[in-house]
Amino acid sequence: MTDAENDAQANENPRPSAFTSRRKLIQLGLVAVGAAWAGTFVQSKLFPQATAQEAKPITFPMSELPVGGAKYVTYGGLPAIVIRSPESIKAYSLVCTHLGCIVEWQEGVQEFYCACHDGRFDRFGEVIAGPPPVPLEQLPVSVEDEMVIVGEVV
Ligand code: FES
Repeated sequence: MTDAENDAQANENPRPSAFTSRRKLIQLGLVAVGAAWAGTFVQSKLFPQATAQEAKPITFPMSELPVGGAKYVTYGGLPAIVIRSPESIKAYSLVCTHLGCIVEWQEGVQEFYCACHDGRFDRFGEVIAGPPPVPLEQLPVSVEDEMVIVGEVV
């Protein structure tokens, strides 16, 4: 092979230089940072979250929550449920603690079910199966003058 042929072959299959690799790495890093930022932005718009301190309390008449029943509410912009047993009234966020899907209250088996990854929580919000790392968030709930109040009354 002549020098001219070697040069021609080298030009057809150029080796990436360290500079090119570093530039591509930086570009990939910028794309990754941008994608992460965009994902967080979209998630915050689709699923606005408020902490228990920021959320405004919601109220409804006790008559809407019979013993053994449940009532779906929106608390802090997120779905939640209030469950009344003969012993107590409890409120839980319906946002799965794994990746944020909305769990479903299954009254027949007294469990919460997350269809995203087969997560299960007992009626107290404790994890009983699947990948959720921690229990469902329990929300403050109280009763005053036959009104159920979800959230902190300041
Ligand atoms: S998001 Fe609920 S189990 Fe994964």
